[in-house]
Amino acid sequence: MSASKGIDTIASWLLEARSVVVLTGAGVSAESGLSTFRDKEEGLWAKYDPMELATIGAFERDPELVTRWYHWRFTKAKDVQPNPGHRALAEMESWLVDRHGDHAMTVITQNIDGLHQRGGSRRVIEIHGSIHRWRCTKTGEERPLAELRFDAFPIPSAHGGLMRPCVVWFGEMLPPEALEASFAALQRCEVFLSIGTSGVVQPAASFIEIAREAGARTAEINKETTPNTDSVEVALFGQSGQILPALMARVRELAADAPARDT
Ligand code: OAD
Repeated sequence: MSASKGIDTIASWLLEARSVVVLTGAGVSAESGLSTFRDKEEGLWAKYDPMELATIGAFERDPELVTRWYHWRFTKAKDVQPNPGHRALAEMESWLVDRHGDHAMTVITQNIDGLHQRGGSRRVIEIHGSIHRWRCTKTGEERPLAELRFDAFPIPSAHGGLMRPCVVWFGEMLPPEALEASFAALQRCEVFLSIGTSGVVQPAASFIEIAREAGARTAEINKETTPNTDSVEVALFGQSGQILPALMARVRELAADAPARDT
């Protein structure tokens, strides 16, 4: 299917859909300047060992290294800007919410960078947590970011523990509320879009199947093929920062034409 035919198809689904779920991964933030994980040369996991940086064992072994790494990622996330892909998803949400109410669209993101919210999205589930929140290892209490001083690594907490980012490390449970909210959105969604994710990390990798079983149309927007490419109804190859604005432009065109077709 050509790119423009694919965009037309997804746009026509969005015109009809009362509930949409968008699953995003590191690819949607790539055009903002943040690295993905599995890109062969530039991906974070090509340069760093996740077992040395993204597990509770790594933090216990070398809290300074792990804290410095997440502080570096926090600084990068803070310094970059949402890209046209983030903004198009926010536009999609407000367009759907205007038509069908607050629950019409949910972004489930594996990203911890906060760029969807800064790009204007309101209903965002961060299933892998957020780099913008840090909590005490002893009490679990979160401290407002403004109160945190990143001048000693690791960062001591007020209760004799250490501050760690509220992100999900390998081997840790996903936040139960985030999972529950994700399943609820997946059960009712009519369109499921997988964008900028390699689709290999569970449980997010199974969300497409849950949505499909719930009767949703499925599409993927990604720079390259993934394990989902063959099973989705529409696969669009390219950069989400280009495809998503084109998709929203098409949605608006079709919506503007729709009343004329009815008369
Ligand atoms: P990956 O790095 O695994 O996949 C990113 C995907 O985005 C790849 O398939 C790229 O081809 C694609 N991509 C890159 N640039 C793009 C662009 N501009 N537009 C569209 N697609 C683009 O990242 P995730 O799937 O997010 O978890 O990885 C999932 C989880 O694995 C992460 O949340 C992280 C990681 O380990 C934890 O740290 C727990």
